[in-house]
Amino acid sequence: MKVLNYGSLNIDNVYSVDHFVRGGETLSSSKMETFSGGKGLNQSIALAKSGAEVWHAGAVGENDGEFLLEMMKDAGVNVSLVSHVEGKTGHAIIQRDGDGQNCILLYGGANQKITREQVDQAMEHFQAGDFLILQNEINEIAYIMEKAHEKGMKIVLNPSPMDEKIGGYPLEYVDYFLLNEIEAGDICREQGEGEELLRKLSAMFPKAKIVLTLGGDGSMYKDGDLVLKQPIYRVPVVDTTAAGDTFTGFFIGGLMQGEDPKTALDHAAKAAAIAVSRPGAAPSIPDRSELEKEL
Ligand code: RIB
Repeated sequence: MKVLNYGSLNIDNVYSVDHFVRGGETLSSSKMETFSGGKGLNQSIALAKSGAEVWHAGAVGENDGEFLLEMMKDAGVNVSLVSHVEGKTGHAIIQRDGDGQNCILLYGGANQKITREQVDQAMEHFQAGDFLILQNEINEIAYIMEKAHEKGMKIVLNPSPMDEKIGGYPLEYVDYFLLNEIEAGDICREQGEGEELLRKLSAMFPKAKIVLTLGGDGSMYKDGDLVLKQPIYRVPVVDTTAAGDTFTGFFIGGLMQGEDPKTALDHAAKAAAIAVSRPGAAPSIPDRSELEKEL
């Protein structure tokens, strides 16, 4: 069983600031670093580091995205389904403050140039029972979901970043949602909290398994009558970028390798804690062997 991650690849330009820049303000940063990132790329690396067989499909620009592919290859991700398209690779401008919190501005670039022809070709490599994982940083998501559903693949959706396009996707095909409270509230068209949101989402999508992330309060999982709660591992925070992607990759990677949901949640929480204790997006993601260490 393998997983196809159809997702974004970004060059993350990270600026260290005292506070996030305000409208009309000019602000100096004390440091600028460039990392590999993109929710898609981060989740592929987390999946691979958790031990799953991962194929990444997506697009980079003609000249500037090669280091992203090298990083994925080094982590064991199959990148043969990533195409090179005219123009620039996607990028993110990330402000990181002294508490390790961030705010992110995206430029889609190549991530928004996925074609249906590319999707059809990519799908030829997968079969019923394989996983498809999606975030919301590329185009043609509804088409990819349709094709994966026709094949009998298990569909995982992390609807992040949330926007109005999500409502147009065939969400009834989703087997696993991984999302935060705001995203869940937007899908339910009514904001709420924890268990209440889980109940509402589960009533809308009764066959789906749901992982609701609650920031500092951890996460919750619901599959029918089974409800699990997972606290976070508290560590000194250096950079929260890609914590959610690490969690997603380790949770789905764990399930694919036979872990029960409780164990997969625990390992995902541990991997995310290690990621926030280090700078950068993809480079902060731990190997599975690091989960053995005490936090
Ligand atoms: O989830 C973190 C990621 O969001 C960053 O790596 C950035 O590229 C954006 O896609």
